[in-house]
Amino acid sequence: MNLDFPAIAPSIPFILQGIPVTLKIVGLSALLGFTLAVILALFKISRIKPLMWFADAYTSIFRGTPLILQLLIIYYGAPQILGFEIDPYPAAVATFALNSGAYISEVIRAGIMAIDKGQREAAMALGVPYSKMMKDIIFPQAIKNILPALMNEFITLTKESAIVTIIGVQDIMRSSYIVGGQTYRYFEPILIAGLIYYVMVIILTVLGKLVERRMARSD
Ligand code: ARG
Repeated sequence: MNLDFPAIAPSIPFILQGIPVTLKIVGLSALLGFTLAVILALFKISRIKPLMWFADAYTSIFRGTPLILQLLIIYYGAPQILGFEIDPYPAAVATFALNSGAYISEVIRAGIMAIDKGQREAAMALGVPYSKMMKDIIFPQAIKNILPALMNEFITLTKESAIVTIIGVQDIMRSSYIVGGQTYRYFEPILIAGLIYYVMVIILTVLGKLVERRMARSD
């Protein structure tokens, strides 16, 4: 195998510049996705038919089509859907938030459903209003089931974010590609990108384990 890391060493800082780009896309879309997911999950458990249908259809569509296709539809379709073009970066954040919202809503729904229904019945018997019951009784317990799964979603988003390279966002993946184009050495930069993604995932995995242990301890 012909590997010459010293030849691309000067380009490593350039690849590293992709890290904050990837982190920002993942962080922002996870935050927006979580917010959307809470709303969808509330719709799903609301017992109000149109809301349930909407949330179920939404989840089904976003989980039932490839993420890369959603990215292309949102990026290239924006002029048709919204009437104006959007930049690659907001298109990436929007797509990942919308997609992640669908996945997280199921995590939240399952987390809430796993709470013994006696809790709900007791709250209702005591006359606790619905929003207060959700906020102060159900959610604080459900979060224990939800948090570890949420860490997995972070990991998925981090890895999947590499596809934003196809619409031109200069993330870790694309930076490494560019170095390949400049130096005519593609293998080394891609290996470096792989290492960076792997380290990020390992860090998230360790954080996930810590969160899980912390949750178990509070039981
Ligand atoms: N590769 C999968 C797809 O294209 C990724 C799904 C995203 N998953 C997620 N948990 N947000 O459908």
